[in-house]
Amino acid sequence: MAAPEQLEAYEGPATIEKVAALCRRRGFVFPTSDIYGGLGSSFDFGHYGVLLIQNVKSEWQRSMIQERDDVVALDSAIILNPQVWVASGHVGGFSDPLIDCRTCKHRFRADHLETSQCGRRPSKRPGETADCDLTEARDFNLMFETFIGPVREDASRAYLRPETAQGIFVNFKNVTSSMRVKPPFGIAQIGKSFRNEITPGNFLFRVREFEQMEMEFFVPPAEAAEWHTYWINERVRWHLDLGLRPSHLRVRAHGADELSHYSSATSDLEFLYPIGWQELEGVANRGDYDLNQHSEASGTKLEWIGHEERYVPHVIEPALGVGRSALAFLVDAYDEEVVADRPRTVLRLHPRIAPVKVAVLPLIGKEAPMVEKARPLYEELRKVMSAEYDDSGQIGKRYRRQDEIGTPWALTIDEQTLADGTVTLRDRDTLEQERIPLDGAKALLADRLEQPWHPRS
Ligand code: GAP
Repeated sequence: MAAPEQLEAYEGPATIEKVAALCRRRGFVFPTSDIYGGLGSSFDFGHYGVLLIQNVKSEWQRSMIQERDDVVALDSAIILNPQVWVASGHVGGFSDPLIDCRTCKHRFRADHLETSQCGRRPSKRPGETADCDLTEARDFNLMFETFIGPVREDASRAYLRPETAQGIFVNFKNVTSSMRVKPPFGIAQIGKSFRNEITPGNFLFRVREFEQMEMEFFVPPAEAAEWHTYWINERVRWHLDLGLRPSHLRVRAHGADELSHYSSATSDLEFLYPIGWQELEGVANRGDYDLNQHSEASGTKLEWIGHEERYVPHVIEPALGVGRSALAFLVDAYDEEVVADRPRTVLRLHPRIAPVKVAVLPLIGKEAPMVEKARPLYEELRKVMSAEYDDSGQIGKRYRRQDEIGTPWALTIDEQTLADGTVTLRDRDTLEQERIPLDGAKALLADRLEQPWHPRS
C-alpha cells in the first residue's frame, strides 16, 4: 500500500465539542447520570449510539472471526479470580505516574505534563508558573477494586478487569482442548473493561468504563515477528475499508521506553483526531509472557502439544476500544457545507457503520395513498436492514435530520409513485436523486451495502 501523505495537524471541520454536541442532540451519546450532574467522562449510549457501536462491533467480528478459519470467539467474566491480575503483572505494575498540584488541587499524569493545562492558568503547563506547587510523581494503580461477599477484607478483594485479554489467556487450555484449533490461531473477545484513569477526557476517547475488542493470536515462536507485521497490515486495512481517511491513519512503533510490561514490540495505529495524532489501536507482540506467567502462578501448564512438538506459543494482540473507534469514524464522517444557501451538517459514515441505512419518507405525510405505499415498503426493508419511517414535517427538514444521523439513503414516495410505481432514491453524499422501481428497492440497497465505499476527498 502506498504511504499516504502525512498531515501534521487535523484540518477538517470537526472538533471534539461539535461531535459531542451532535451526538447528544441526535440521541447517540448522553453524559451518564445526567440529572445528577453526570459522572466525569462516563457516557450512556442512546438509540443511534447503540446501533453505531453494534455496527462497529459486528464489522470487527465479521473480519476477525466470521470471515476467517483460524479465530474462535470467547466471552469471559469481568471479575476474574484476583490471582489472575497478580500473575499478569497488573496488581504490581498497571499504574500511571500521578502528580498533584498543592495550589490548584488538580491532578496530572506525569507523562502527560507537556500537553496538560495548569488549573489556574490554562494557557500554561503545570509547573510553568511560580504559583504551581507540584508533588513528586507517585504510582497510581488503575484497576477498580471491589469485594466479593459481605466482608470487606483483603481476602475478598477483587478487580474489575482492566483489559479483556487476560480472560483469553486463562482459557487457553479450555479452548485448545475443546475446539479444533492449532497454532497459528486466535481467540477473540469483545467486552467491557474498566480503568480508573487519572485524566479521562475528550468525549469517548479516554473514559473509565469502555468496551474493548481484543484478539490474542497464538503462533509458533519463530513466526511471531512475521505475524506481528501481518496483523498491523490487516488492522490498517479494516479501518480504511470502513471509511477512515488514509491521510488520518498512521502506524507508529513504540520506543523501548514506552513498551508495556508484557510487550516485546508494539505498534500503535494512530488516528488524527481533532486533538492531534493519538493511539487508536495497539498491535502488540506479547511473546510468551502471559502464558508463562499463568502457567507458573496457577500450576497448569499452558502450552501447545502437537504430535511431534511442544512449545509455549507467542502471542500477537490487536486491541481496539469500541468507543475510540466509533469516535474516529464520527470525526472523519463529520462535515459541514452550504447547500442552496442553507447550512447542512452531515455524517458521511460508511453505509455499513451508519446506524440507519435507509429512511422511507412519504412526501406528504397526510396523503393516505402515499402512506399506503410507504409503510409496507418500510416494513419490508426493516426485515433486512436498519430502516426508519418518518412522515412528519417538511421533507427538507426530514432529509436534514437523516443527514445528521448519517443515513446514506432516503426513499421518497410521491405523486409519481402512485402513477408509475417508482420512488426517489436520494444519496446523502452527492445529494443526487434517481428514480428506481419501488419493487426493486430492497435488492438494490442490499447490493449497495456490500459495495466498497470511500470517503470523498
Ligand atoms: N490488552 C492490551 C490493552 O489493553 P491498551 O493499549 O491499554 O492495550 C487497547 O488498550 C485499546 O483499548 C486502546 O488502543 C484503545 O483503543 C482502548 N482503550 C484503552 N484505554 C482506554 C480508555 N481509557 N478509554 C477508551 N478506550 C481505551
